[in-house]
Amino acid sequence: MLQGTLAMLSFDIGFLPMVLHFLPSLFRVLEAPPDLPVSPSPHPAPGRYAGALLAFEDVEFSYPGADRPVLLGVSFEMRPGEGLALVGRNGAGKTTIVKLLLRLYDPTAGRITLDGVDLREYDLEDLRREMGVIFQDFVRYELTAGENIGVGDVRVLTNEWRLLEAAHQGGAAELVATLPEGLGTQLGREFGGRELSGGEWQKLALARAVEQPAQVLVLDEPTAALDVQTEYDVYTRFYDLTRNRTTLLISHRFSTVRMADRILYLEGGRVREEGGHEELMARDGEYARLYRLQASQYLDEAAEGEG
Ligand SMILES: Nc1ncnc2c1ncn2[C@@H]1O[C@H](COP(=O)(O)OP(=O)(O)O)[C@@H](O)[C@H]1O
Ligand SMILES: [Mg+2]
Repeated sequence: MLQGTLAMLSFDIGFLPMVLHFLPSLFRVLEAPPDLPVSPSPHPAPGRYAGALLAFEDVEFSYPGADRPVLLGVSFEMRPGEGLALVGRNGAGKTTIVKLLLRLYDPTAGRITLDGVDLREYDLEDLRREMGVIFQDFVRYELTAGENIGVGDVRVLTNEWRLLEAAHQGGAAELVATLPEGLGTQLGREFGGRELSGGEWQKLALARAVEQPAQVLVLDEPTAALDVQTEYDVYTRFYDLTRNRTTLLISHRFSTVRMADRILYLEGGRVREEGGHEELMARDGEYARLYRLQASQYLDEAAEGEG
């Protein structure tokens, strides 16, 4: 008996360094006080966001402690079921807009409304449940393949059929089929799992986005590490899959935003140009100039590749 106990003990101790590695982060999160004012009598979020109008009204925002505002008088609407794209150079404030939309921060001036009601009036959890976001830096979870897909909605985590269906829609079905234990395969090096390529992680992230029951879906450059063709394929598929949902797609690649219903060109903390791709090209402004500039770069690269 002693021998068995000792064996188990040494096994558990083996895990200790791994657990200790994560504990400080865990405690930091658990101890953090809520940092947003919460409405004393919150509105429940409207049941169907897809029918709701999201609007930024003259929104200004500065990060705490920063001396310059990142956004200045940003106004735009996300209409129900619309596919909106946000384009602009690095640092233009695209991700900041997403953070405000999720109410990770509140605007320093102006307001964001959902069906005419200020986001601050809504129940925070209610609000976030209806927004599915894939951020640039969080496409990989060192969990199993199935958990990577279902992590946004615990109710599907044990529903193999739903997970496989989502994998199929996200273009990850072939990948899952090649994994040694399918959906149950541990991924990532941290826990000795199988490491995937950037593109493979993206496919799982896309499956996760599609699986989320949220009415508003946001992709914030999750494809920045992909080559142009793969990014184009991912976005085409995303548009196809989300036709009836409100989507916000963010990219600094002009070639991939052109299929959006409407494009916002962000510069210097403001929405400078707004319209469909053809419309913006016809206007021949900054969007058109940067579009042509990027297109010619890709042509040069392609020519070099052939040379
Ligand atoms: N947490 C933060 N604190 C202070 N400044 C930030 C923070 N996050 C981003 N910024 C600054 O805000 C500006 C806009 O950033 P961001 O919204 O991430 O741009 P984009 O997504 O368009 O590349 C940048 O100048 C960036 O340095
Ligand atoms: Mg960004």
